[in-house]
Amino acid sequence: MAQTIDSKRLYGALQELGDIGSYTDATTGLVGVNRLALTDSDRDGRRLVTGWFKEAGLSVSIDAIGNVYARRDGTDADAAPVMMGSHIDSVPTAGKFDGCLGVLGALEAVRTLNEKNITTKRPIVIAFFTDEEGCRFGTDMLGSAVATGRIPLDEAYAKCDRDGISVKSELERIGFLGEEPIGPLKPHAYLECHIEQGPLLKSKDLDLGVVTGVQAICWHELLIKGRSAHAGTTPMSFRKDAGVASAKINLRMREMTASGDYGPDMRATMGAIRPTPDMINVVPGTVTCTVDLRNPDDDAMKRQEEDLIAFYKEVEKEEGVSIEWKRAAQTPRIRFNESIQETISRSADDLGIKHERILSGAGHDAQEWSHLCKSAMIFVPGEYDGISHNPRELSTEKQCADGINTALTTLIALANE
Ligand code: GLV
Ligand code: MN
Ligand code: MN
Repeated sequence: MAQTIDSKRLYGALQELGDIGSYTDATTGLVGVNRLALTDSDRDGRRLVTGWFKEAGLSVSIDAIGNVYARRDGTDADAAPVMMGSHIDSVPTAGKFDGCLGVLGALEAVRTLNEKNITTKRPIVIAFFTDEEGCRFGTDMLGSAVATGRIPLDEAYAKCDRDGISVKSELERIGFLGEEPIGPLKPHAYLECHIEQGPLLKSKDLDLGVVTGVQAICWHELLIKGRSAHAGTTPMSFRKDAGVASAKINLRMREMTASGDYGPDMRATMGAIRPTPDMINVVPGTVTCTVDLRNPDDDAMKRQEEDLIAFYKEVEKEEGVSIEWKRAAQTPRIRFNESIQETISRSADDLGIKHERILSGAGHDAQEWSHLCKSAMIFVPGEYDGISHNPRELSTEKQCADGINTALTTLIALANE
């Protein structure tokens, strides 16, 4: 008989954590969550969850990049642990589920094991990782990328937000600059449950997705310099309009996605566009903007990035502007471990949960751990087309429970290998 969690307790914990950093969206009246990494609200969320870890009898440690680990011993003290984790930082316009389900779901799994006096051979480590979203310090999966060796610690410490405040100083300020060194933790396996953040599972009437991998991601930050000038008196032929330059790049990205030249699943977004001086009657002199490229195919990603960079040069000539760009993040297509995917499928079958394989469109901490140990993910569907990075984000108690029940069965199997 499969073990099952207390879904009410899990959902209650998600609501309670979701109250930290909550705000009311001005246009919709919906209550969202803003727990941007290493802000006071992130600190408050971290304290709440760390307290819950301790109440569950787990030993808590914090590493040098502020990742928090909570360990439940196994019967074999020397065995490598099974890690379950995700993140509790958020984009500024979030719901209550992105990342939090993975962390609080892991906690609920451990609470269930504790209550039922179930021991495992391997230790279990629950973790939440610093700045998975990348919204504040410019690169995604920061904490897990440092822990697993992709990003050097000093490089991470030096990253700054828009106000020039560094990762290291914020870690110190909120009291989460930990002492555990980076490096020695090498789990036996890593498992993460997350909301799908898209419409596919719900549209197919599925209860769960067994995640096959994550598509490639590439982020650019652009500084476009033109010349600010009077909107009424400056003839069009005299302008160096940084706003038009950014618009051309944005439209070119849309054309590239529609062309099919980079496969059917290319995605491209200019999510941040900031003109200066930002005035109705002034031609924008500079624009800083971002480019987010995704593609499940590494070769297509390479071509789409090269072609876009070549287009920056064309825009420089056409608009008389200069474009400086830097790559802020880049991760390849990831394939998750096949045998864990099979264990997840079997666990879902045992629980009567309808599932299918699915590729992740979003980036996740699991992709970083997949470089160190066998790793896999479980997705649960969301309501409202699975909308996410939006206060309307919602997965029901049943949807969350299906994911964490499947994760619990999978966790028990992995922790006894
Ligand atoms: C993480 O949320 C991402 O941008 O994929
Ligand atoms: Mn997430
Ligand atoms: Mn997210």
